[in-house]
Amino acid sequence: MSGASAGPLAVAVHGAGGRMGGALCRLLSAAADLRLVAAWGRVGDPRLGRDVGTIHGLGPLGVPLAAAGTPGARPAVVVDFSVPESLGALADLCREARLPLVSGTTGGEDPERALARAADVVPVLWAPNFSPALAALAEILPGLAALLPEADFAVLDVHHEGKRDAPSGTSRRLARLLAGSGARPVSTASLRLGGVVGEHALYVEGAEERLEIWHRVRDRAVFARGALLAARWIVARPPGIHRFADVLHAPPR
Ligand SMILES: NC(=O)c1ccc[n+]([C@@H]2O[C@H](COP(=O)([O-])OP(=O)(O)OC[C@H]3O[C@@H](n4cnc5c(N)ncnc54)[C@H](OP(=O)(O)O)[C@@H]3O)[C@@H](O)[C@H]2O)c1
Repeated sequence: MSGASAGPLAVAVHGAGGRMGGALCRLLSAAADLRLVAAWGRVGDPRLGRDVGTIHGLGPLGVPLAAAGTPGARPAVVVDFSVPESLGALADLCREARLPLVSGTTGGEDPERALARAADVVPVLWAPNFSPALAALAEILPGLAALLPEADFAVLDVHHEGKRDAPSGTSRRLARLLAGSGARPVSTASLRLGGVVGEHALYVEGAEERLEIWHRVRDRAVFARGALLAARWIVARPPGIHRFADVLHAPPR
């Protein structure tokens, strides 16, 4: 597979016509060690056939938006930010073509489970949030819950009006982590507001005090950068389900 050979790592972006697709294309066009070789969009998207760089106002990148799996240059890894309904077909494609898969798509019943059917033959990494700071918060949550057994926890997410799922995948992940750490039932709330890229607040309510932790994303490039970090990492991993935290714990390349 080309991922193991010398030269830039060949990347296919699934959901390439969307907001995150644009952020990924921007970073890929500037990365010396990565090369965009395929940009996959929804069948029926009227922009199919147009250069994906032009679609995103980046200038031509020499890669047309095409239906997923359209024959062309072989990618070494697939990076997905699309819609939950497309994940089953994407997992089948990655399974059949033996393509490692990194996905940040949220919503639906259980995105990670939908992708897991590829994990017996290729490495798969799904994360509801590819921000390193948010991943670090998730790592320390069990300790926080253990130290404050009497506290009430709540998670608020604030996102742009185009976001389809509420609560966010990140809120759901944080609430699940807290529940697994013995915290009392965690309430979640969501605000959909203008063009907010993504904000989460963790409220820890004690009897006479409150701890608040806010995470605010100024540019969705942070998610794209995290996902591409995971893409570089995953091509050398064995089949199975992998975690973004493992990418962050890995020694720098
Ligand atoms: N994990 C993270 O760090 C993170 C960060 C940001 C966003 N997200 C999640 O990532 C996903 C995408 O976010 P976004 O803001 O980029 O959304 P978006 O702008 O709506 O982009 C999604 C793109 O996927 C396309 N699509 C739909 N069905 C498809 C299919 N079968 N195959 C390929 N492409 C398909 C959509 O096309 P149409 O518009 O034509 O349907 C759209 O261009 C969402 O689930 C969001 O919650 C995760």
